[in-house]
Amino acid sequence: MPAENAELLTTEPFTRQGMSSSPADTNGNDIKGVFSARLSEKDFRRLSAFIHEACGITLPPAKKTMIEGRIRKRLRALGLDSYHKYCEFLFSPAGLRAEYLNLIDVVTTNKTDFFREPDHFNYLYRNVLPELVHSSRPDAGKTLHLWSAACSTGEEAYTLAMVLSEFARTCPGLDFSILATDISTMVLEKARLGIYDHDRVNPIPMALRKKYLLKSRNKEKALVRIAPELRDCVTFRRLNFLDEKYDVKGQMEVVFCRNALIYFDRPTQVKIVSRFVNLMKHGGYLFVGHSESLHGMDLSLEQTAATVYRKK
Ligand SMILES: C[S@@+](CC[C@H](N)C(=O)[O-])C[C@H]1O[C@@H](n2cnc3c(N)ncnc32)[C@H](O)[C@@H]1O
Repeated sequence: MPAENAELLTTEPFTRQGMSSSPADTNGNDIKGVFSARLSEKDFRRLSAFIHEACGITLPPAKKTMIEGRIRKRLRALGLDSYHKYCEFLFSPAGLRAEYLNLIDVVTTNKTDFFREPDHFNYLYRNVLPELVHSSRPDAGKTLHLWSAACSTGEEAYTLAMVLSEFARTCPGLDFSILATDISTMVLEKARLGIYDHDRVNPIPMALRKKYLLKSRNKEKALVRIAPELRDCVTFRRLNFLDEKYDVKGQMEVVFCRNALIYFDRPTQVKIVSRFVNLMKHGGYLFVGHSESLHGMDLSLEQTAATVYRKK
């Protein structure tokens, strides 16, 4: 069993199931039916209630077609020809164990980029890091702890690693560590590898590309890999925001949780952000996505820039 799954079993009784071990594969179902299959209102309601409970993602009726498209991949992988059969499989005890992680992988939206919403990284470099490092507060240490919460395929965490590495050059003795978490095991696998298509790295300034990216020797494959010294700065781990307990040591100086809160209803957002605040140092910073707002949340945070908050 891969280490990742072994780790998961300690908190959730679920394992990933490959295509070939599903009962449907051996039934010889005609997968042509997959393309004409439709998700009924009733099954959509069952699935959206389950997804909401499992990972907090709200799926209003307007998202039915989107979800139908995403789960179609699972029908195909399992050799099932109807969404109803998929639901029956998913909601059986064995099916749930086998399918839970795969379902999470397909229903989460993992869009991300290097240097996405670049103002945040400028603000971090110019304002936040100097303040955190040069602050005269007695608890201002020389090791900074950052968290990319909902890191997707790792671009945000590696962007932070580049920015911190650059900053550390101006600040001898400064150390930092980056924790990067996501609910989807599929994106975490990709993130850990740190291998990306060459056209994904365009937003990275050329000077940083030269320093922190390795090109594939195989010229036919336009791939790049994050340099090992940068990969070593980031620890990837699975974390579901709805978990009772987060496996995160407190005292984070910087938390990035961008473009994830948007998928949750307001009470769930408040709960998640309160957990972040509890895990942050006083004077630490929380960055949320440009389309997200903490307005009206009664938390110990003050806004210092657009979508940037400091713990009081
Ligand atoms: C759109 S991506 C954001 C990636 C990155 N933060 C950015 O802004 O580019 C949203 C991520 O949230 C993750 N996510 C969704 N529900 C989650 C949950 N309950 N717990 C943890 N992560 C979750 C998804 O797997 C997905 O990778």
